[in-house]
Amino acid sequence: MKNILVTGGAGFIGSNFTRYMLEHYSNYKVVVYDKLTYAGNLDNLQDVAERFNSRYAFAHADICDKEAVDQAIREHQIDTIVNFAADTHVDRSIMDPDAFVMTDVYGTYVLLEAVRKYQLERYHQIGTDEVYGHVPRGASKEADPVAPRSPYAASKASADLMINAYHITYNLPVTISRGANNVGPYQYPEKVVPLFVTNAIDNQPLPLYGDGLQVRDYQYVLDHCEAIDLVLHKGQIGEVYNIGTGTEMRNIDMTHLILKLLNKPEALIQPVIDRPGHDRRYALDVTKIRSLGWEPAHTCADAIEATVRWYVDHEAWWRKIKSGERYKEYYERQYAGREIK
Ligand code: NAD
Ligand code: TYD
Repeated sequence: MKNILVTGGAGFIGSNFTRYMLEHYSNYKVVVYDKLTYAGNLDNLQDVAERFNSRYAFAHADICDKEAVDQAIREHQIDTIVNFAADTHVDRSIMDPDAFVMTDVYGTYVLLEAVRKYQLERYHQIGTDEVYGHVPRGASKEADPVAPRSPYAASKASADLMINAYHITYNLPVTISRGANNVGPYQYPEKVVPLFVTNAIDNQPLPLYGDGLQVRDYQYVLDHCEAIDLVLHKGQIGEVYNIGTGTEMRNIDMTHLILKLLNKPEALIQPVIDRPGHDRRYALDVTKIRSLGWEPAHTCADAIEATVRWYVDHEAWWRKIKSGERYKEYYERQYAGREIK
């Protein structure tokens, strides 16, 4: 592994992963390949472009574009693809699933075809715990059946199935990791933690869905990156690896923690009508990734605390996004008239 194509590398996790890999492997070259949708942001990589000038490149292109994918692989002599590119927000997938089917399903197929054509050394897919669906009890193991319940989760599950089919049919050297909710630097402020932190800083309401008793495993993005690195170097071809802290936190408790850390009143919590088909609980069994020798450095609470600190210290980064017309339109469309009195 020398020349890695990080698709979706201008987004939240992909930009953290790009920085992490360049910092940890002085002989690797990373090419970020990104369409720069609303969620893609070159500000996330500004320091990377400066610090790793000779080992970093950027290609502005779509993973659904076969020719552009071919061109990037040839031009940069790519041997490994790590695919972060996706439309990623459940609420947007409920409003308009089109881009999810295109990027998350068709785009993955285009990348797999390129891996086959150029006989690349490795394809790694960044998957999600949401493919297991709502988990009322216990914890999802990698061999559990997928049972997605939102258009986002269904598109990610479809990708996983296609990847497995390519492994079985064409012997493609693939791995998949399924991560729990990530938090940390550079997360677009539509996801709940950066949304609540930035709203609270501005004394704006925190729109909590339904009763707030839904459960998520909030993991720190750099812990997740470290585990992906481990799967890339020590994972078994054809296998799936769950990645998360293996613990859980209720949304209402996550919300109270953010308010406490920012010294803001609980009166900012605004209950709103719940998300349709809302998965009340995700929970991952993380025995398999731990057996490779990985331990997350942050609990859910540590991860949220570090995230709050980052957003407090990086106002310019998120104010630029939140002051844009595109963000304001989305916010209005998603939240207007949804308050429960
Ligand atoms: P993000 O929305 O912040 O970034 C997605 C990136 O993909 C953006 O830079 C965007 O421009 C790019 N992109 C979208 N469509 C593209 C296309 N057609 N061609 C090329 N680039 C395209 O997402 P994220 O939160 O960083 O998530 C990255 C990956 O991790 C996704 O595959 C997601 O499903 C998965 N994941 C995310 C989480 C989480 O909590 N955020 C948890 C588990 C798994
Ligand atoms: P989100 O960050 O969208 O991640 P996901 O749904 O993919 O896990 O949401 C995390 C949790 O927070 C989820 O249970 C939905 C809830 N939530 C709210 O209560 N209010 C919000 O405004 C958002 C965006 C999410």
